[in-house]
Amino acid sequence: MKKPKFYQLTKDERLATLVEQGHLSQTDADCLAAAEPLSDEIAGNMIENQIGQYQVPLGVVQDLLVNQQVYQVPFAIEEPSVIAAANNAAKMARANGGFVTEQLTRLMTGEVVLEKLVDLVAAKAWISGNNDHLFEVARAAHPSIVKRGGGLQKITPTIIDDRFLKLELQIDTKEAMGANIVNTICEAIAHAVQEQLGGTLLLSVLTNAAFESVVIASVTIDPATLTTATLAGKTIAEKMIAASDFAKVDVARAATHNKGIMNGIDAVVLATGNDWRAIEAGVHSYAAKKGAYQPLSSWEWTTDQQLRGRIELPLPVGMVGGSIGILPTVQINQRLLKVQNARELAGIIAAVGLAQNFAALKALVSDGIQKGHMALQAKSLAIAAGATETELTQLLPLLLKATHLNTATATELLAQLRAENK
Ligand code: MEV
Repeated sequence: MKKPKFYQLTKDERLATLVEQGHLSQTDADCLAAAEPLSDEIAGNMIENQIGQYQVPLGVVQDLLVNQQVYQVPFAIEEPSVIAAANNAAKMARANGGFVTEQLTRLMTGEVVLEKLVDLVAAKAWISGNNDHLFEVARAAHPSIVKRGGGLQKITPTIIDDRFLKLELQIDTKEAMGANIVNTICEAIAHAVQEQLGGTLLLSVLTNAAFESVVIASVTIDPATLTTATLAGKTIAEKMIAASDFAKVDVARAATHNKGIMNGIDAVVLATGNDWRAIEAGVHSYAAKKGAYQPLSSWEWTTDQQLRGRIELPLPVGMVGGSIGILPTVQINQRLLKVQNARELAGIIAAVGLAQNFAALKALVSDGIQKGHMALQAKSLAIAAGATETELTQLLPLLLKATHLNTATATELLAQLRAENK
């Protein structure tokens, strides 16, 4: 008998396979299988007014090849087709040498803003002339990050609108995403500056436009590997490039192009305990940094007629801090991913974003997006209508043949099925 594919296994069989393959320890597999909720102690202390817990499925994208290393990537996601699409792209990319990533800098940025200063130019000059003092204030405000080899790296003062004095602080937060570290340093510097210069201190806080934590990922595909039963690989590649060009001149398309990218990125960001709102804010501000909202990735021909995809986006993710150390599943996910540090994690996430975009564009310009979505959509509708595991096998083929694939059809067909099975 043909060996079933990973997605055809039961959840317990999938976990056993990951243990067998050495990707998960038995203890971590048991912990995922038990699917224990968070203890009241943890959940109740994490947020105010906690009244329950909200579940999202956790899945895995297998064998994503990034910088010649193979990763099993955890996705926390509710949208049915995302993992299937990423797996598909991971497989095609693997056959073509995988993804390559680079990150030039990994610094977080904070802003300190003052207004109502008597002499803005003199105030700006004071900042530039007193860096040593301000660096000392930063060290005293957060000595532990300095001990870990991080802390304030650069202060850039700017006058904005003839009204505001802004200090941009570049801070190395090491393995943390570092919002608390940045905010602590910003506030200490803000008070020191205001004490000296007067004026009104408006705000001091991290900016989510983490443009000093930009990651680039790329992949080069031989168009022959894209060939389907009905379309030549070269035609698909050409259309993918055209679709990518279109996103550069149509904001409506750029938004959806980027949404597809964020399908994968948010899923890994969430699974690894990072702040997905911060990532979303940063990514979209980066997409709009030139004034017009742009796609985060683009596709083109190389000189030797290969299809090349490239993504560039800020990914200030961390390996420690915040909820990362508190949520047990996050730690299991870090172990499944076998990721060593925050830079490596950011590279994997950028590759995931490009993989997701690759799968979406390929589907859009060939079979259309609905074909692949249908089976998964039908399953979601059937489950929502209340079908049991056994009923699913009977209901899905009927649902896929129906003219209108929606909740009403699923409910009606399930009722008919139950009546016939009585
Ligand atoms: C759906 O969640 C995402 C896509 O719409 C992305 C895209 O159109 O590129 C398929």
